[in-house]
Amino acid sequence: MSQATNQSWGGRFSEPTDAFVARFTASVTFDQRLASQDIQGSIAHATMLARVGVLTDDERDAIINGLNEVQGEIERGEFNWSVPLEDVHMNIEARLTEKIGITGKKLHTGRSRNDQVATDIRLFMRDEIDVIEVELKRLREGMIELADREAETIMPGFTHLQTAQPVTFGHHILAWQEMLARDHERLLDCRKRVNVMPLGAAALAGTTYPIDRHVTAELLGFDRPSENSLDAVSDRDFAIEFTSFASILLMHLSRMSEELVLWTSAQFNFIDLPDRFCTGSSIMPQKKNPDVPELVRGKTGRVYGHLMSLLTLMKSQPLAYNKDNQEDKEPLFDAVDTVRDCLKAFADMVPAIEPKKASMYEAARRGFSTATDLADYLVRKGVAFRDAHEIVGQSVAYGLKTEKDLSEMSLDELKQFSATIEQDVFEVLTLEGSVAARNHIGGTAPNQVRAAAQRAREALSALKAGA
Ligand code: ARG
Repeated sequence: MSQATNQSWGGRFSEPTDAFVARFTASVTFDQRLASQDIQGSIAHATMLARVGVLTDDERDAIINGLNEVQGEIERGEFNWSVPLEDVHMNIEARLTEKIGITGKKLHTGRSRNDQVATDIRLFMRDEIDVIEVELKRLREGMIELADREAETIMPGFTHLQTAQPVTFGHHILAWQEMLARDHERLLDCRKRVNVMPLGAAALAGTTYPIDRHVTAELLGFDRPSENSLDAVSDRDFAIEFTSFASILLMHLSRMSEELVLWTSAQFNFIDLPDRFCTGSSIMPQKKNPDVPELVRGKTGRVYGHLMSLLTLMKSQPLAYNKDNQEDKEPLFDAVDTVRDCLKAFADMVPAIEPKKASMYEAARRGFSTATDLADYLVRKGVAFRDAHEIVGQSVAYGLKTEKDLSEMSLDELKQFSATIEQDVFEVLTLEGSVAARNHIGGTAPNQVRAAAQRAREALSALKAGA
């Protein structure tokens, strides 16, 4: 047998693997990222095999000690990854056998790389989901506290990006927080389906050894062994679900980014981002660019791409395992890294947002944002809503001509459009009056924002990590 032919399966081959094919089919350059999960899975597998009498206790101990040494070599950067050995699984097994001899070759009893890789990815995803969840929580907490602090801060609310009605800045931030609350639920729901153990499915049909999959599942912290061996080795739904969660989350972060970018512009001038989140221009000395939100917005595209890759990867695969599945890892790894980094950037940045209150207030005063309040006022005085709409429309037209906001007109000026208007109109035409009047659950009134922040805090602390 030639050296270029893999020792794990070279037995039936009569010529060495073509050098290019070896490189083309190998995954070790990227799947070495699964090394510690691979070792964790192997230790549990060996422990179970000894428990059911397939390995002796001495063999189990030799394997576990050997694997722990291999783990140390990998962590210290001393491990020599070999492309001819194809993937992370065979690299680790070969090194184990180099260290402990023939016993190392017994580790693969009753399993296949097909159930092994499926197990490794699930362990990896579970670990990453838990890290991502910590960042997501931190971001949500930051938003809730910012919203609470800014419960009274008034800004224009928009539809069609045109000034619509005044809202509180806290209310706007809590709208972001609601998006993330749903993303959080999606993440925890995805985790439930990730945390199922394929190990024991072997290549596709199960194994003839008297394995106990409940033992392995418990050792690895899985909720249960998978029900069907064919499904276990071929299913990558969980990866698609994760990237789908990631795509929706990034879509949300991208929308927030877009607003942050707009708000920091001189034209909006609603907020400032501390210098540490921005960079300058090499040619225009005055520039301070909101790179962090811009990049988050940009990175959204690649995560959408990974979702498409994985959906397309799976769409025509017959049962059970196919080598196509090796292509699941790079999109998944990149999606995980991108989500983690974007969440970290946002969790650091959001509490540091500095609202420019006077400027937001001034913007809300422009654009006739209290026009609906005037219409509602007329309705309360007995005018039909359609007529009230017309009356306010005429007042706005007058305001445009005279460059006056509704609150800046005198009572006589307003009375030109409706005799029903009286002195008390000025209570509803102020921005404070307008937001305070939207005083119901889900409304923008400052006391509602504070109550919503409190409910959000409670909902967040009721969520248990990994629950
Ligand atoms: N490197 C492979 C993957 O990532 C491991 C499983 C290979 N199984 C096989 N029968 N060739 O999917």
